[in-house]
Amino acid sequence: MKEQLTLFHTDTERAAQTDDPASNKIEQVSFRELVPEISNTGYLTHAIFAYPAKFIPQVVRYAITTYTKEGNWIVDPFAGSGTVGVEAYLCQRNAVLFDLNPLLNHIMPLKVYRGKEILSERHLHKLLDGMRESTHRFMPAWSNVAYWYTPEVLEVLSRYWGFIHNTDNEIYATIIKSALLKVSKRFSYTEDRTPKLARSKRKLKAIEELLKENWKQQLEEMTRSLSLKTLKDLNDFMIHTQPNLEHLGEVEFHGGIDSSYASVPRECEALITSPPYLQAQEYIRSTKMDLFWLGHTEEEIRELSRLEIPYRKADRLIQTETLEKIRKMLTRDDLQKRLDSYFCHTVNALENSMNRLRPNAAACIFVGNPRVDGIMVELWRILAEYFTERGFVFEKVYEDKIKARKLFGARKNKNPDGMKSEFLLVLRKNAICQTFAQQRESSLQDEGFPQHVSRKSPDSDAS
Ligand SMILES: C[S@@+](CC[C@H](N)C(=O)[O-])C[C@H]1O[C@@H](n2cnc3c(N)ncnc32)[C@H](O)[C@@H]1O
Repeated sequence: MKEQLTLFHTDTERAAQTDDPASNKIEQVSFRELVPEISNTGYLTHAIFAYPAKFIPQVVRYAITTYTKEGNWIVDPFAGSGTVGVEAYLCQRNAVLFDLNPLLNHIMPLKVYRGKEILSERHLHKLLDGMRESTHRFMPAWSNVAYWYTPEVLEVLSRYWGFIHNTDNEIYATIIKSALLKVSKRFSYTEDRTPKLARSKRKLKAIEELLKENWKQQLEEMTRSLSLKTLKDLNDFMIHTQPNLEHLGEVEFHGGIDSSYASVPRECEALITSPPYLQAQEYIRSTKMDLFWLGHTEEEIRELSRLEIPYRKADRLIQTETLEKIRKMLTRDDLQKRLDSYFCHTVNALENSMNRLRPNAAACIFVGNPRVDGIMVELWRILAEYFTERGFVFEKVYEDKIKARKLFGARKNKNPDGMKSEFLLVLRKNAICQTFAQQRESSLQDEGFPQHVSRKSPDSDAS
């Protein structure tokens, strides 16, 4: 981890010099002000799950209403916790979502709840009462599990999860599952507010003190109140969407998929996405406690972690004017590799989806300006250079200055990764793109990389 700490200095700010006609097209905005109808980023079902580096829904809403029409299909190859899916559904659009993290498959049935009847608190209470009496057991397939829990907490959690894993996967059980994920973290030794698992003295002490109290009752009450809160969010979501029932769209989701090599099953009218950060975010590792409790195995999680951007070997070199300048300024080999890996797989994933856009469709890509070894990497510019050489038209860039951003839970970071602004790059597909898409597909096949087939995890020498 030492390497990660030194990876992105923020003290010296150097940027690759560029001739800059595109900068004239930067529009300064505040998405929160542009979309005043969303006053709370966690409204309706948006806040049911914590996830690192979530979109604020205002950005997505703005892109949807500006660049798509009702009934259009939107693709998001880096869907994370599915913000694009929720906003698309609320705006009567359709969405197809991909993410390497299988959590997406557990999140979406709750966040886009399509039930037609108000959910009953009484039924939920009955199920929760049954859970208390349960004799089932579920132990995560996690060799380290005892490191994160006291034996007595683990015993109670394994009974609760045993009950859930043995209950039909109906909506009430799914609601309780989402509550148990939060409870399982809170009653573990990991810090509550950091994304990655971190056993701290503070938390060890807190758990020690808790165990002297009526902790079982507290655990049960927390599960109950979080479940009730989620049930209420789902009912609000349903009431909100009910009047448009006939016009509501489809939301397809594919978690556990590597977007660098996934096939997008349909043509779409827009892409709206936020790629992984260039620095180490490690989404799979950050959510692995959840994934274990949900029944995923150590081997599965290890395999997925290897496919995370930017921890895998690049299989082609992305070249653009600005990227070349940055490469020349970088002196460290490991940083060059990280940069090459990042652009190779981020561009592969974007290009896979952008190849499936219809002519004239917009690609809206939300990125920051991270620094590598003190050098600013203008992601929007590099992506614009790459895709405008492949038949996309540069439309504009919105710059939103970061005031305070919640990276995870309540942890506020005024300047994540040294970034001061975030950018929404908008490209427009024109008719000749089809030719470029076909060229890339056949060149990949020549190099031995089937375009629309998931590959086995490559060597991970970029980590
Ligand atoms: C910035 S987050 C997206 C957050 C999302 N916009 C939201 O609102 O929750 C980037 C996502 O890229 C995903 N990712 C990383 N490598 C990937 C890959 N090879 N294929 C697909 N998704 C990947 C991560 O799991 C993470 O969820």
